[in-house]
Amino acid sequence: MTTFRYLTAGESHGPGLTVIVEGIPAGLELTEEYIEKQMSRRQKGYGSGGRMKIEKDRADLRSGVRHGITLGSPIAMWIENLDFVNWTEAMSAAPVGEEVDKKVHTRVVPGHADFPGALKYVQHDLRNVLERSSARETAARVAVASVARRLLEEFGISIHSRAVATGDEDGREVGTEDVDWGKVEASEVRASDPDADARFKAAIDKAKDDRTTIGGVFEVVAFGAPVGLGSHVQWDRKLDGRLARAMMSINAVKGVEIGTGFANTRRPGREVQDVIVPDPSDPRRFRQTSNHAGGIEGGMSNGQPIITNVAIKPIATMTKPLPSVDINTGEVVEAAYNRSDICQVARACPVGEAMMALVLVEAMLEKFGGDSLGEMSRNYTGYIESHQEFGRG
Ligand SMILES: Cc1cc2nc3c(=O)[nH]c(=O)nc-3n(C[C@H](O)[C@H](O)[C@H](O)COP(=O)(O)O)c2cc1C
Repeated sequence: MTTFRYLTAGESHGPGLTVIVEGIPAGLELTEEYIEKQMSRRQKGYGSGGRMKIEKDRADLRSGVRHGITLGSPIAMWIENLDFVNWTEAMSAAPVGEEVDKKVHTRVVPGHADFPGALKYVQHDLRNVLERSSARETAARVAVASVARRLLEEFGISIHSRAVATGDEDGREVGTEDVDWGKVEASEVRASDPDADARFKAAIDKAKDDRTTIGGVFEVVAFGAPVGLGSHVQWDRKLDGRLARAMMSINAVKGVEIGTGFANTRRPGREVQDVIVPDPSDPRRFRQTSNHAGGIEGGMSNGQPIITNVAIKPIATMTKPLPSVDINTGEVVEAAYNRSDICQVARACPVGEAMMALVLVEAMLEKFGGDSLGEMSRNYTGYIESHQEFGRG
């Protein structure tokens, strides 16, 4: 039986999103305010479209929490789509009359789920595909991950993200360990230095003028994960594989790198491995002198920061649409345009953090389990203390 699981449901312009999370131990402090704060981070971003001006995401806790403390029972949440007031008839679950504007959509957007989804689910209204494939669903994932994150905090694990490229502008001047994460939060493009902030914004402005869109690369990093999350013994237990899958599942993500994975291919082996030495502050402990592996060796966390870099493609919806086809008539038409973002790199960062949190909480629960936070903490402390036995000579 899986220890930790969750499901999301909901259409982009439907009444809202529903989530159920199971496997969070009893005794964890959790409030709607905490979840709301995390969700608001997904809504900010230079180059965002109009939808985020309408929505003000918050999740109502409907079960699994009493007086601000988890009960160990399934946690259900409800996130209202404020835009639904404009779509009540078009997205009605009940049948509607012929006179109703159903906002039918038949002009395929290249790069979206429209084409394969229409053929697979035999849909002549592409809206029946795009409503669920829309990145609105990532609001639900951020809500689930807020719960995961709250639990990870109890074990000293924190997760951050920043944009390291926007369009063809790079912004990695500051090394991961030296980033001032407060500054990143204050930047509308989630840049870690003012120069990159200005260049990223200029790239987005130019894309807007050119009536196109741009993608980029974002970095997600977890500090404080203990040695030994994931396992080398079976392919589907490897932490790097699980992380790559989770990141790749984010809408529009097309590449995932762990550590300096791609650059390593051009370096000799002696420069790529992270050498292990006794920690000068405590010779019974060990530490690596570099972190090219991005905190994962042999499918297990090695105690270093876990670092992923994630490539996200430019958004498919453009104010100057691409040539396309009408799915029902076969006629050559322009692709549909719906209100859309110019660049979603900054908004994708908190979603990347969410996926990191979900993978790590699952691995933490596998390793340390427990029905209550106290039980899990005892398991964790016992394991950490067992490491004192190593390196004693
Ligand atoms: C935070 C975020 C916001 C997005 N906003 C839009 C958008 O406004 N317009 C759009 O066409 N695609 C947007 N996307 C991307 C689409 O959801 C995605 O490209 C589409 O579902 C097709 O899936 P694929 O690109 O993963 O193959 C967004 C993605 C993310 C992560």
